[in-house]
Amino acid sequence: MRYHCIFVLSALEAILLGSFAAPLSSPWDDMYTKHSWDTVPKNWESLGSPPSGNTTDYYIELKPHRENALIDALYELTHVLTSPPVRCRYGMHLSKQQVAELVAPRPDTLELVHTWLERHGVPSSGSSVSMTHGGNTLKLKGVSVTQVNTLLNASYRLYRHIESGETVVRTISYALPVALQGHVLSVTPTTSFPTDWRTPRNRSGKAAAGEVKSESASKWPPVGLSGRYDVNYVTPSYLHWLYDSAAYVPTAADRNMLGIVGFLGDYPSPTDLTAFMRQYRPDAVSATYTVVPVNGGGYDPSNPHTESNLNIQYAEAMVYPTPVIYYSVGQGTSEEDDWFSSWFEYILDQEIIPQTIVMTYGYDEIDLSVEYAVKMCILFAQLGARGVSVLVTSGNNGVGKENCVVDGFVRFRPTFPSTCPHVTAVGGTTGFTPEVAAELSGGGFSDYFLRPDYQDEEVPAYLQKHGNRNRDFYNPNGRGIPDIAAQAEKFRFIFEGNVIQNSGTSFAAPVAAGIISLLNDWLISHTGMPIGFLNPWLYSSGFLGLIDVTSGSNPGCLTKGFSASVGWDPVTGLGTPGFTSLQQAILLVLEQHPVGRGESLVTPHNISL
Ligand SMILES: *[C@@H]1O[C@H](CO)[C@@H](O)[C@H](O)[C@H]1NC(C)=O
Ligand SMILES: *[C@@H]1O[C@H](CO)[C@@H](O)[C@H](O)[C@H]1NC(C)=O
Ligand SMILES: *[C@@H]1O[C@H](CO)[C@@H](O)[C@H](O)[C@H]1NC(C)=O
Repeated sequence: MRYHCIFVLSALEAILLGSFAAPLSSPWDDMYTKHSWDTVPKNWESLGSPPSGNTTDYYIELKPHRENALIDALYELTHVLTSPPVRCRYGMHLSKQQVAELVAPRPDTLELVHTWLERHGVPSSGSSVSMTHGGNTLKLKGVSVTQVNTLLNASYRLYRHIESGETVVRTISYALPVALQGHVLSVTPTTSFPTDWRTPRNRSGKAAAGEVKSESASKWPPVGLSGRYDVNYVTPSYLHWLYDSAAYVPTAADRNMLGIVGFLGDYPSPTDLTAFMRQYRPDAVSATYTVVPVNGGGYDPSNPHTESNLNIQYAEAMVYPTPVIYYSVGQGTSEEDDWFSSWFEYILDQEIIPQTIVMTYGYDEIDLSVEYAVKMCILFAQLGARGVSVLVTSGNNGVGKENCVVDGFVRFRPTFPSTCPHVTAVGGTTGFTPEVAAELSGGGFSDYFLRPDYQDEEVPAYLQKHGNRNRDFYNPNGRGIPDIAAQAEKFRFIFEGNVIQNSGTSFAAPVAAGIISLLNDWLISHTGMPIGFLNPWLYSSGFLGLIDVTSGSNPGCLTKGFSASVGWDPVTGLGTPGFTSLQQAILLVLEQHPVGRGESLVTPHNISL
């Protein structure tokens, strides 16, 4: 009855209005520009309309019901020095379902979006629509350019990158109905012109620093764990000695895992891995790994990539016999896919995720849009909330490559994803007793992300002492990178049967991730829980388990860059890992925060070193 009354009233209203005014426009016709460029971005040219029959997948990022719930939860779970009411949550990592609840959109958001899609004839239910990226992104499969042009008041064109010749389908402007303002955060692919995804410059570890020497593998006799170290180059036994992990034998290999993310369709070679182990860690000659292809990623063991080989060889050398998963993230079939987003779509959908993940692919932050970087960073926070320690490289160009001039001004070039506050960024060192900063070590301050709370003591302390140098070239309020460091120069690894020597934070990150994975093994076997997102712990007490690196610098942008110093610095972070002292630093935390679930709760007294 009530419904009927309302209907009559509205009909009446319409008639009345209709006779006195212009016809009412639908709320859906009132649009606002979400993002637009004045002109086609630099280095891109339009090739006109894309082929009309083509369809693409689109992602609609929805505003979560509770704005900061995910980030609040992440820091409650990892904050080690808080008051008792919060303390009981330390280490209680969330499940896929619990994270989905935190990031879920409001029910009316979903209703509105569905209504909007249906008005434009885009099926909003069934197999062509799904929730992705942990539960706040709506994926529309196979939408035609014509449909999306009307949906977003856009004008999609085929664009070509002038230098590389790569093409993408993009629009230089898009709009959304005013009715969706405050409900939809972004739609992709739209106006981001992903230069770097298409034209990867010399990536971490590939060639940026140090010359590549190729020698016959048989020339290098294996060095035993108790052997002497030729400090002219780095091998697994040297690293296990330096970082104090030689004596630790993993015992949770049935539960603990290490994940390595490879972009650009890269993958490693099992034959090279075996040759590497035979040479440098003979007890691990049976080491293997599992390749998980994501978004059409390939795997042809006979045609490996350098980056993947060095990642897998050093990760395995650190953690054997812990299972290692290699994610080979490909380009898929669409010209719109991006590496990060594709991998997150896959990994956040898994019930079980490796407790430690390392990623050595990075880009200068300034080359990405803020909107994009922020969105990807939130996805890293989801991994943290689920108890995953994510370690990424800080870059190989010191504070930046070449002159770093933008619009007539010098600006240092920190790298993403290391600038995301919810990951652990790994810089580089060299030498020993003491280790010093490697000049290639990426470091500095984010222009996109503010300094997180956990850096509120260490970073201002550094700036107070050293902040005046190059003061105008960086953002002192930004998140500082890196967080920690590890050896990054003169690593030997095997590529297509030959011994190669090279440098880069692409070596440092798998080594540091290896140490963290061993800590996870130890923790899991005693408490059932992994350590999770590291930074709040590292900055509050975990640094007690690190060796501070106090000399060296990271020149770049035609400047001397930053200097390493006592405490945190934007070259080597808090320092390099010491396995047994990190174990002790964890015991300190566990004394305050017993972890474990229900019956299996284990107090720290049950753990011995
Ligand atoms: C819709 O597209 C037209 C044509 O490109 C443009 O002039 C107009 O400003 C757009 N509207 C909004 C709200 O962006
Ligand atoms: C568009 O369709 C053509 C013809 O079917 C195909 O060759 C091309 O790869 C498609 N492009 C994209 C971007 O999907
Ligand atoms: C990338 O590396 C190649 C080979 O080492 C070199 O010729 C080229 O100049 C490098 N490109 C950039 C952008 O540094």
